[in-house]
Amino acid sequence: MICAVCLNPCIDKTVEIDQFTYGGMNRIRASREDGCGKGVNVALVARQMGMESACIGFLFEENGALIADRLRDAGAREDCIWLPGRVRTNMKVFDRENSRITEINESGAFISEADQARMVERVRQWSARCDTMVFTGSLPPGCPAEFYKTLMEAAQGRCRCVLDAEGEKLTRGMEARPFLIKPNQYELELRTGRELKTVRDIKRAALDCVAEGVQIVAVSLGGDGAFITDGEHSYFAPIVPVKVRSTVGAGDSMVTGFLHGLALGEDLRGIFRRGVAAGTAAVTTEGTQLLTRTLYEEMLERVVIEEV
Ligand SMILES: Nc1ncnc2c1ncn2[C@@H]1O[C@H](COP(=O)(O)OP(=O)(O)OP(=O)(O)O)[C@@H](O)[C@H]1O
Ligand SMILES: [Mg+2]
Repeated sequence: MICAVCLNPCIDKTVEIDQFTYGGMNRIRASREDGCGKGVNVALVARQMGMESACIGFLFEENGALIADRLRDAGAREDCIWLPGRVRTNMKVFDRENSRITEINESGAFISEADQARMVERVRQWSARCDTMVFTGSLPPGCPAEFYKTLMEAAQGRCRCVLDAEGEKLTRGMEARPFLIKPNQYELELRTGRELKTVRDIKRAALDCVAEGVQIVAVSLGGDGAFITDGEHSYFAPIVPVKVRSTVGAGDSMVTGFLHGLALGEDLRGIFRRGVAAGTAAVTTEGTQLLTRTLYEEMLERVVIEEV
């Protein structure tokens, strides 16, 4: 069982207009709402892969059902802390003429110290029930940058902790020595404080993270492929050439693929193959749609891995 921690979920509201007019009136031609969040994605993708999954985090009474229902329909457990108010909305304005998307995002509601303490307790409970906990995505207002560190310390010793976060959430979180981290290139550059131009640069920066106590460091390089190391073996995978429809959820799917490999007891190469296949499958689906089992399995055959 994997448990994804989603502290700042959102409702993605996608609206389509003919042509975006800045400072003018824009008429909506089509509109849809999806319950989202990086942790939600992990819990949903895990179900597609046939793993048991749960999602915990903060949900709000007025519109949180959109997310809770999506999880339940997929067979994922939902055990969030429900608070009064509304889940934040992230609006994506799709300009049909130019195929461009403008995003207008809310930050989310303020989380009190008392509710943060309840979350630490919730993580402690779930860490005893699952093999792996995944901490991913932004933190809501009110939560300090070291909140992931606090949560992972509450979970430690009972399950593996995976951290997929950026900036201070990553650097402070690493102090809790998560089992696996998956920065993308930009996130690793932020941590390292310099540009990482080659796979060799990436490898050196990733090995520094291993030296700090992280067992597996995976680095996703978007359209340039991916890298993984456990300090002993290091691998690079170029991208699988596919028709890219939307990169939403690619990183989350990749992390879930790694967890699938881990659950199957595979070695680092096997784990990596599954992550890359899942990330690739995710980019072939439209909009906020996630991968399907069939797409993922097709991609497994196509991933090429080289030791570096
Ligand atoms: N254009 C692409 N073509 C093929 N594969 C891609 C492409 N973009 C991403 N991928 C696959 O998905 C993986 C994860 O993507 P990426 O590095 O963009 O994650 P990310 O930045 O963490 O994304 P997010 O956090 O927004 O989900 C890549 O390592 C690669 O395997
Ligand atoms: Mg990411």
